[in-house]
Parts: sequence; structure tokens; C-alpha cells
Amino acid sequence: MSDKAILEYQGKKYEFPVIEGTEGELGINIKTLRSEAGMITLDRGYKNTGSCESAITFLNGEEGILRYRGYAIEDLAEKADFLEVAYLLIFGELPNKQQLDKFYGDIKEESEVDEEMKKILDGFPKAAHPMGVLASLTSALTAFNPGSVDVESEEDMYKAIVKILGKFPVLVAWTQRKKSSLPLNYGDDSLGYVENLHKMMFEKPGKKYNVDKSVIEALDKLLILHADHEQNCSASTVRMVGSSHAGLFASISAGISALWGPLHGGANQAVIEMLEGIKADGGDTHKFMQKAKDKDDSFRLMGFGHRVYKNFDPRAKIIKKSADEVLNGLGVEDPVLDIAKGLEKEALEDDYFVKRKLYPNVDFYSGIIYRALGIPVEMFTVMFALGRLPGWIAQWREMRLKKEPIGRPRQIYVGENLREFKPVSER
Ligand code: ACO
Repeated sequence: MSDKAILEYQGKKYEFPVIEGTEGELGINIKTLRSEAGMITLDRGYKNTGSCESAITFLNGEEGILRYRGYAIEDLAEKADFLEVAYLLIFGELPNKQQLDKFYGDIKEESEVDEEMKKILDGFPKAAHPMGVLASLTSALTAFNPGSVDVESEEDMYKAIVKILGKFPVLVAWTQRKKSSLPLNYGDDSLGYVENLHKMMFEKPGKKYNVDKSVIEALDKLLILHADHEQNCSASTVRMVGSSHAGLFASISAGISALWGPLHGGANQAVIEMLEGIKADGGDTHKFMQKAKDKDDSFRLMGFGHRVYKNFDPRAKIIKKSADEVLNGLGVEDPVLDIAKGLEKEALEDDYFVKRKLYPNVDFYSGIIYRALGIPVEMFTVMFALGRLPGWIAQWREMRLKKEPIGRPRQIYVGENLREFKPVSER
């Protein structure tokens, strides 16, 4: 196989090296394209563009494979816990017991949030969407933790990482408590990372906190499934913002905003709202399938389709099974689960969906579990953000350690040519 790709334009040939990843993926390195051929590539939505070489997450959308640092997502979801996975993603290897204990100990040391932050939270109307609040609070953290990260120093980098991992769950919990008019509190250091988060979110004043172990296990699994997904919209945003050497917190805050949209992480909220809408309309899934296929109708089947997966999203398979287990285990009956299963069955047999390779994605069933766990609909995407935090950190760290240049795409200008300026009186 040739290790060069040749571009021919107006009788001239240009050669570009082809690089191969460890899983056999091929990429044409066009670094010299503009300087040699005087042209650029145009790739709306970056559907064919690799922005970096990365050793964090491998996914093969055609075969429905997802691996973090070489470990199958199915294995990690079943056998690891969220903090182990966070360590793996960020530092590249699974931690031993000592490393894990130190990691969690350091995170706990950094879990206090400046009291002044409460004033900022107070300034938001209660109706504010939790994702907007979370993005703002994360950005505001910068003000209370001054000093930029010296990325040349592993110690400095580590400090910034444990800080955000310590403070973020508190911000998530406060966002939820503000929404539910509950007093802002702190957690309990004797609990694990996910149980502590749950306690901070749901503990009621004067009531003993108690939670079923299966709830924590289900939540832990969901967070693992969301922990990274290579160069998606929010991870690319974190990398892009960080590439200007903006700090970790500012970069993560931008990632939260990117995640919020219904075409990305916001889909989990949109799915439940869609399923509820179908239920309220009488439960006719066929009618909504027709709407989804109608190009004159803006309705899309939320939770279906993916930029990369052209096969089952492996996370959706795990979550579907988990949804059944959680609902059965907690004795929750949710009629929208049946509507979701009905929609999935119809879509998988429908020509429109089959031809376009549209399968359920991670968000199709996650909202049903979140709801069964007592998490309010508007907090679904916030839970996704918490799950994705290690991935964002890992992507940011890799980008900075590799000294990636500032992200700055080019464009093909299609506007007006030079025009003569006329004063307002002559227009
Ligand atoms: N319902 C109906 N039709 C769809 C859907 C859907 N959910 N998704 C894609 N299509 C159709 C498109 O209309 C298009 O049809 P066409 O070829 O006739 O024009 C074709 O399938 C390809 O779709 P694109 O939008 O071009 O695919 P793209 O890769 O740009 O978008 C996306 C992927 C945004 C995920 C899309 O499938 C979608 O909007 N899904 C619903 C939202 C969703 O669930 N988002 C969560 C994604 S997972 C995550 O971010 C965690």
C-alpha cells in the first residue's frame, strides 16, 4: 500500500503523506496543502476531518466499538467504577489501589467551593436552566482559584485536575438544590465519589440520608458510559478553547455550553420530552415515525442517529439493559419505556432509518433511568456533563502536553468583493 496520497489539480500533482493509526484508521496529512497548492479543504461539520492524533478513546462507528485507552466499554461499565475510569482516561492506565486512594484523597481535599460562589448562584432566577447555571459557575470558579496552570509542570496540571474533579460535583449538587429550593450543603468524605454526589444532591434537611445501593451502581454505570467519546462537539470545544491557552476551568465551561444543545448532550432531556409528548398525544408511535421522516416537518426522532455510529451505539445497548434492571429493581413502572421500545422496534424495521443507518444513541434510554433514579428532567444534561468531565480533562491535558497549535480553521469567502463606501445620506 502506498503511504502517499496524490492530489491532481490543473495538471499538477501534489503528494501528501498518509498516516495510519493503531487500529488501522487512515488519514491524509495535508499540512502542506495550502502552501504548495494554494487551496484548502472544505468540510462542513468536519465530517471527514481529523483534528488531532489522540490515544484516549477509540471508536469504530461502523462496527459499534467503543474503548477507553484500549479497554472495552462493556468491560469498564461492568467491572470498573467511575473514578477508576476517570483516572484511566486522564492518565492513561488503570490505577492500582494506592494510586486510586491517593487520587480520591486529593480530590476530597479540593472539594470545598468558595462561599462567595453562593452569591453568584443566588443571582440566577430559579427558572434558569441548570446547564446555563453550571457553565457560569464553572467559569466563575476561575475567579476563586486564581493562577494559571503551568502545563510544563505535571504537579500544577495534577492540582488543576483534582480541583475541578473535587469542586464540580458540589456545583452540580448546588445547581440541583437551587432548583428544588433546598439549602446548599456539602457532602460526606466517608462516601465514594458518586454516592457523595447523590447525597449532596438529594439529602433533605432534618431527614436521614438513605439510598438504595442499586441507585448508586446505576448512576456510576451511566457516568462511565458518558465519560468520553473522542472528538465530539463538546470535547472539540474544550480543545479549541484550551488551544488558546485559556485555563482548564474556562475550557470546561465552554464544553458544558456545547454539550447543552439538543443535537448533543441536550438530547437526553429532549428524548424524555418527546416520549412524554407522544404519550400525551395518545401513544401513536407510527404517527411520530411519519413526522420524523417528513422532510417538511422539523420533528426528528430524538435519541436516534449519530455522527459516527452507523450501527448500534454500544452504550445504548448497555443502557437499555440497565433501564430494564433499574426499573424492575426499584419497582418503577414507566409507560414511556414501552413507547421507547415501540419506537425503537419500528425504526429498526423502517426503510428510512435502515437506509440512513440511524440507530438508538446513548441518550435514547438514559433519560428513562435518570427519571427512575429521581433526577429531574432539566438535570439530565447536567448528569451527562459530570460524566463527561474526565473525558474533557483528558482531551485538554493531551492537547496541552502535545503542544497543539491554536485551533483556527480557514474559510472560503463567498461575500461581496470590494465596494465603495457611501455615507448614510447617500444610501
Ligand atoms: N430523525 C430523523 N431523521 C434523522 C435523524 C433523526 N433523529 N437523524 C438523522 N436523520 C436523517 C437526516 O435528516 C438526514 O437525512 P437526509 O440524508 O435525507 O438529508 C440523514 O439522516 C443524515 O443526518 P445528518 O443530520 O446529516 O447526520 P449528522 O451526522 O449531521 O447528525 C445527529 C447526527 C445530530 C446526532 C442527528 O442524527 C440528530 O439530530 N439526532 C437526533 C438528536 C440526538 O439524538 N442527538 C444526540 C447524539 S448523541 C450525543 O451527542 C451524546
